[in-house]
Amino acid sequence: MRIIKTKDYDELSRRAAGIIAAQVIQKPDCVLGLATGSTPIGTYKELVAAYERGDLDFSGITTVNLDEYKGLPKENDQSYYYFMNDNLFSHVNIDKSRTNLPDGTEPDSEKACSAYNDIIHSVGGIDLQLLGLGHDGHIGFNEPADSFPLETHCVDLTDMTIRANQRFFASYDDVPKQAYTMGIKTIMQARKVLVVVSGEDKAEIVKKSFFGPVTPQVPASILQLHPDVTVICDAAALSKCDM
Ligand code: GLP
Repeated sequence: MRIIKTKDYDELSRRAAGIIAAQVIQKPDCVLGLATGSTPIGTYKELVAAYERGDLDFSGITTVNLDEYKGLPKENDQSYYYFMNDNLFSHVNIDKSRTNLPDGTEPDSEKACSAYNDIIHSVGGIDLQLLGLGHDGHIGFNEPADSFPLETHCVDLTDMTIRANQRFFASYDDVPKQAYTMGIKTIMQARKVLVVVSGEDKAEIVKKSFFGPVTPQVPASILQLHPDVTVICDAAALSKCDM
């Protein structure tokens, strides 16, 4: 595990975008695993800027996103479908038919999850998976549990996650209580993993995730066992670690 400390969020975003850009340049038909949340927004801005400068070509890229709320229509501006189009896909020359997210509008969880597993298998797995980090150590929407979930599954979001995401919705009650998420096995099978973490409110969970014991109670801790992980943290997120 390589941990990079940046002075602030802007540097974090530039560094993360640089790693993704290198992947796209080296393998123009690669599969990118993408993430939502507020942390990767700056990274996507940098990628869009690189595309606008003519430095990146997304025409051969396939994407699979980590997760999606269950029950939100795609056109809802809090759906992850909307987020990805708004922050990245609509601004670059990606073929939208090769962008994939779990289908949050499918009410049958088993059907939605097995269809998404089939998509991930059919594209040949993930070359580079981008991840944010939840306050309870969740990655995607893999919440603390007694064991590491394997493939795509439906999760009940924890109260902590619902409260953290409440800022994007009109009220607590409006936050979806379930989501479909890629499993930990699928994330661990990605050939490279890139984690971005920003802010002092993540300092405690950064310490637990990357310097504490590996346990399904802190889902991100399993990344310590992945052979090719880069974690980019700003100084605030690393403020409780000796680095
Ligand atoms: C959500 C997403 C995660 C993300 C997390 C942290 O729960 N499902 O993929 O990592 O939020 O988000 P933020 O970057 O806004 O702190």
